[in-house]
Amino acid sequence: MNTPAITPPKTADTQHPILDCLAQRWSPRAFAERPVEPDKLRQLFEAARWAASAFNEQPWRFVVATKDQPEPFARVLGCLVEANQSWAKHAPVLMINCVSEVFARNGKANRCTEHDLGLAMGNLSAQATALGLVVHQMAGIDQEKAKADLGIPSGFHAFSAVAIGYQGEASKLEEDWQRDAEAAERSRNAFDAFVFGGAFDQPTDLFRD
Ligand SMILES: Cc1cc2nc3c(=O)[nH]c(=O)nc-3n(C[C@H](O)[C@H](O)[C@H](O)COP(=O)(O)O)c2cc1C
Repeated sequence: MNTPAITPPKTADTQHPILDCLAQRWSPRAFAERPVEPDKLRQLFEAARWAASAFNEQPWRFVVATKDQPEPFARVLGCLVEANQSWAKHAPVLMINCVSEVFARNGKANRCTEHDLGLAMGNLSAQATALGLVVHQMAGIDQEKAKADLGIPSGFHAFSAVAIGYQGEASKLEEDWQRDAEAAERSRNAFDAFVFGGAFDQPTDLFRD
């Protein structure tokens, strides 16, 4: 099978209308060589900055590296597991997402910290899509290596990584599974698998016509 140069849009096949920047977002592994304009990167972090967080703690911290800075880029890339490094090395921007573990206001454990990082990433991803960028999040990192190599202080830990850039040609991906995934259909659970009425696992009428 011939792999198309640029995977056609993988816009979500929604049953109800949603915002374009949500429907059009997906997670490619093929990145173009084109760098991301600093102004666009600034907009991504502005979007992340305005995410909600428990007690407005804003527990997220982002260690960013761009390809034009080979040393920091290699350091961040080295924190990813091999399977992720194999494709993420082509992205023009990589970052490691860290979170604080306790509230600055009282030193108590913040059980919302990774949740709130997720909200910031949701904002960043939606903004990126609206700007024509693609984002691929990764849980596959070596958290201990990130802690040591990136100088992450106590009270913080690395949680995930992100590749950011412009979509590239799937045919340039080095491994079969990566090219296959690029072309694969997107799927999601049916509503009755995750929206319940009044108690867990109880059906809801909400989606019945
Ligand atoms: C927190 C998180 C961790 C993920 N970890 C990885 C990863 O380590 N490697 C990878 O290739 N994709 C990873 N993904 C991407 C998911 O596989 C992808 O989002 C999911 O299959 C849904 O596809 P879509 O984003 O294209 O809708 C991760 C996504 C999230 C949100």
